[in-house]
Amino acid sequence: MYLRGLFPLLPLLLLPIASALGTSCIKVVAALVGRPSDIFYHFQREICDVGCKPTIPHWDLWARNNTFVPAARDIARRLRAPHEEAALIRMGDEAADSIKTRCGPLLGGRDICSDDDTLAGFGNCFKKTFLRSALLSVPTLLPMVSDAICKEQYDFLNQEELWQEIIPGNMREYAQACQNLEDGMQVLDTNWDGMGGTMGI
Ligand SMILES: *[C@@H]1O[C@H](CO)[C@@H](O)[C@H](O)[C@H]1NC(C)=O
Repeated sequence: MYLRGLFPLLPLLLLPIASALGTSCIKVVAALVGRPSDIFYHFQREICDVGCKPTIPHWDLWARNNTFVPAARDIARRLRAPHEEAALIRMGDEAADSIKTRCGPLLGGRDICSDDDTLAGFGNCFKKTFLRSALLSVPTLLPMVSDAICKEQYDFLNQEELWQEIIPGNMREYAQACQNLEDGMQVLDTNWDGMGGTMGI
């Protein structure tokens, strides 16, 4: 349902890529889009159920440098394009800015775990915005990939270890840090309003 607005874009973006690269790269996108429900399940269990109160500023206070940056480094290594690490990080930062701008207001000052509706609403907005950013990044990503590389990424994304161990493990690390982020949150919250408006995607 949340994909409706993107449908006019999909054939435009995906068909030329599919014909250029074969189907492996499309399967990567499908694997990414299909998994968010796993992520919510783990988010609820590993983060909400242990009493964290995640807010948007926690991304910059903790998650960006501790999860996203190492992941971007790892992806650049697996793409055999270590010099693209900075470009990948820039793409992630742009996606994060987009998510802050579009989904942050849905929280209305609550934390992401405050109730089921808040988590679901933020989660849906997150999925939609993440996919939108991924599609908008295609022109940047295209020169970095080939069908063979996409096949490898797909195999990586499709392994249960990633979804059942690595991602929940990252969440547990955040859960250990989350209580200590509350103080910094107050400070960042006060100058949050103007952030993230620069991307416009
Ligand atoms: C995250 O890393 C960036 C760049 O290395 C640095 O400028 C920033 O202060 C770091 N943020 C935190 C919260 O440590």
